[in-house]
Amino acid sequence: MKSAPHPSSRQKYLYTHTFGCQMNEYDSLRVQRALSARGYACTDIMEQADVIFINTCSVREKAEQKVHSFVGRLRKLKNRKPSLKIVVGGCVAQQLGEKLTEKFDHLDIVVGTRGVHAIGDLLDQHEWDRRQRVHLPGDAPEDIPYEHGLPEKLSAKVTAPVTIMQGCNNFCTYCIVPHVRGPEKSRPPDHILLEIQALESSGVREVLLLGQNVNSYGKGLGENTSFVDLLRRIQAETQLLRLRFTTSHPKDLTTELMEAFAELPMLCKNLHLPFQSGSDRILARMNRNYSSVDYLRKIDHLRRICPEMGLSSDVMVGFPGETEEDFQDTLRLMERVRFDNLFSFQYSDRPMTQSVNFPHKIPKSIKTRRLTQLQALQARITLEKNLAEIGKRHNVLAEGKSRSGDGQITGRTEQNRAVNFSGPLSAVGSLVRVEIKEAFSHSLKGQLIS
Ligand code: SAH
Ligand code: SF4
Ligand code: F3S
Repeated sequence: MKSAPHPSSRQKYLYTHTFGCQMNEYDSLRVQRALSARGYACTDIMEQADVIFINTCSVREKAEQKVHSFVGRLRKLKNRKPSLKIVVGGCVAQQLGEKLTEKFDHLDIVVGTRGVHAIGDLLDQHEWDRRQRVHLPGDAPEDIPYEHGLPEKLSAKVTAPVTIMQGCNNFCTYCIVPHVRGPEKSRPPDHILLEIQALESSGVREVLLLGQNVNSYGKGLGENTSFVDLLRRIQAETQLLRLRFTTSHPKDLTTELMEAFAELPMLCKNLHLPFQSGSDRILARMNRNYSSVDYLRKIDHLRRICPEMGLSSDVMVGFPGETEEDFQDTLRLMERVRFDNLFSFQYSDRPMTQSVNFPHKIPKSIKTRRLTQLQALQARITLEKNLAEIGKRHNVLAEGKSRSGDGQITGRTEQNRAVNFSGPLSAVGSLVRVEIKEAFSHSLKGQLIS
């Protein structure tokens, strides 16, 4: 809960900027919770901030470059307001550590991915001596320390993320995540349930469970703590309207989990299952531990259990050694599965990963051409699938006012499609029945059925 600031002390403000994935979004919320417990209020105005927290991503070179230019631009602000404290956390902080404070002398604190919970104390120490600090703990804390209560502006949210495990043990050859997030570590189920129940009591109706590979949740926690056990407990011990999770690894997707989609009413029929490439040669070089046939079999099995499943995925083009034939295999897999949504990337060399040293790097011009071609194919599939929704009726969780500013309400179907519709603001936070009337490339338009 936000404690009231001391009457004589001026209100302090925290400005947060988050790059990267939902795990970073979650960590930024933790920082906001922790600092609001220390009397900070969140602000959207950077100039108003006493502390700026930048949560960083290192997954591709471009993501890292964005961090460098963002931090560089803050120098002017710091010159104007020397009392401002600039804190960099997340994956680039973990990757570069002291190199960041050496490059940017206007930075105050660099904190690694396993040290987010320490930011409040680090700020207090900095208050005393004003020295630059780099804090990169080697081990994750026993559990993600959880501060009860939410900053005011978050408590109004209908959906909230909950990280259930940190790190990753998979070491896909292109990926920096295991190097910057450390080994996989699952949170105890009791703690996760307490956190979800606290979110529920502040009005949250949908929870998104997060981890780099949630299917392997529970390793090291003892009996009855598999991922499906956790889902069953959440179904039994909460009154959420909806439960989602991300990300799943194809090699660990079990029949038990597929069946859970049919078994658990609150679990949305929606799965994000990155395939990365449609070529077995490339998948092997990526260390993904499945073939394209394994992947397709699992998709077919899942669709037999649950025909209305919404599917999304990640894919990359231009992995070292990717031939035109390999790329065509990727397009063929996309045509075969027809994902509802696809996140696509150009391969990017990352420090510490194995593939940095792989031969036959693909020139930028070819990567760009392949990505353009792939995205055009997916745009066609997405639009076709959206158009096929016209006339169908869906349960939609109303999440808030639409960003278009036309007074519409926005929400999502179970399959994770965005739907805008006219309706009363009082619908926000509940499930409503909507008939789809129009389809666009990124959203649907519907009509409330009374
Ligand atoms: N844990 C998740 C993904 C984390 S990173 C999983 O295993 O699916 C998100 C996506 O970024 C990956 O799925 C991959 O498609 C992409 N990615 C990771 N490293 C990359 C790199 N070096 N170059 C380009 N894309 C990359
Ligand atoms: Fe990276 Fe692979 Fe782990 Fe995903 S599963 S975070 S792609 S190493
Ligand atoms: Fe980026 Fe770190 Fe997430 S590298 S994708 S913010 S785990």
